[in-house]
Amino acid sequence: MAQVVLEDICKSFPARQGRSPQESSQRLAVAAPSATVAPSLAKVGKAQTGQVAQTGQVAQMGQVDILKHINLAIADGEFMVLVGPSGCGKSTLLRLIAGLEEPTLGNIVVGDRCVNDLPPKARDIAMVFQSYALYPHMTVYNNLAFGLRRTRMAKSAIAQQVEQVAQMLELGDLLQRYPKQLSGGQKQRVALGRAMARDPQVFLMDEPLSNLDAKLRAQTRAQIVQLQRQLGTTTIYVTHDQTEAMTMGDRIAVLNGGVIQQIAAPLELYQRPANRFVAEFIGSPPMNFIDVQVKDNQHLYHPHFTLTLPDTWGNTLAPLVGRSITLGIRPEHLSLTSDSPQSLPVQVALVEALGHETCLSCTFEAEKGMSMLLQVRIDPQQIVQHNDKLWLEIDPQHIHLFEADSGAAIAV
Ligand SMILES: Nc1ncnc2c1ncn2[C@@H]1O[C@H](COP(=O)(O)OP(=O)(O)OP(=O)(O)O)[C@@H](O)[C@H]1O
Ligand SMILES: [Mg+2]
Repeated sequence: MAQVVLEDICKSFPARQGRSPQESSQRLAVAAPSATVAPSLAKVGKAQTGQVAQTGQVAQMGQVDILKHINLAIADGEFMVLVGPSGCGKSTLLRLIAGLEEPTLGNIVVGDRCVNDLPPKARDIAMVFQSYALYPHMTVYNNLAFGLRRTRMAKSAIAQQVEQVAQMLELGDLLQRYPKQLSGGQKQRVALGRAMARDPQVFLMDEPLSNLDAKLRAQTRAQIVQLQRQLGTTTIYVTHDQTEAMTMGDRIAVLNGGVIQQIAAPLELYQRPANRFVAEFIGSPPMNFIDVQVKDNQHLYHPHFTLTLPDTWGNTLAPLVGRSITLGIRPEHLSLTSDSPQSLPVQVALVEALGHETCLSCTFEAEKGMSMLLQVRIDPQQIVQHNDKLWLEIDPQHIHLFEADSGAAIAV
């Protein structure tokens, strides 16, 4: 167990590049126990970190910046979720920590040592991939024992460790099977078990549940969280699924375009998103955004409604009077009401009755001739039908405001 600290990590790839992420993942999965992946390029340390200040930019000509000045400290035993849209650099960051890629700049610290120059095997980190990457010609037992055998552990100690992991993951009856004789969920448990058996300082998990069906996903999600609590091993878990992020992480780091947008506990992210990107990414259905004008220190104006805000917003709004800003409102903070100057006229485009709640997509004429869809969550007892014309009320206690151009949150 150990803390992991990422200091000003940058990664650029040449605009045209040989090895694909899949290839390098496979390389760790298959070859890591024999430590064939060695660092090849120059040492990356403080000297190069200093280069950032000098040049003010990371990439050279013909390079693409994938990760931009990532600073992230993961505490000993913490479950950190890294979430963001496809292509934002999540796997690249994990591969850097594992030692499969080298940072262009910055330091990776595991425990109290900088591991930039250490090969993957020497980092004492175990990685679980989306693709499972089990050894197909080995039984479950041998898959679990493989990493331990490389450490020259005594046979009896290996057997004991495998037994313990198999019991934790309910794999006891499957030990003599081969991967092809396992279901997706069972394979995933073996992949987890293989990582756990090594009892590493850090687990890295790259979308380990994405090949499972919805029910198994939810089950395995809970199982991973429980196991992590039990073992107390520092874990960095990558996903693009915001539900996984919200339910699993002690904290979540939201990444977009290679830049960390916000690092916070799940509810903090949901309730106080730092910017419009986080506000939209975390929460499903997503937050609604409406362009409004600050009329005075208590009112937001839109051609179709005027919203009165609580007094607490007064000081924040005063310097913004006359400016255009973005109002954010979550689907659960819109409700059905009657015609009034405060309410929004909409037409129901879609009704999704989920049993415990009903989700509506409603067409709202945002500007002349331009309509947008508003997502609304209502009580399932309320009967609403496709094409109904309704009025929506915004709960002013739960609004979010963002700067129109930068998207940064305007804090109360
Ligand atoms: N070896 C490489 N050479 C060149 N470009 C790369 C390499 N590895 C990754 N990239 C690029 O870096 C970007 C980030 O890739 P990465 O795999 O880290 O994304 P991700 O956030 O894990 O996405 P996903 O959710 O789809 O897995 C992508 O644009 C990808 O094409
Ligand atoms: Mg990825």
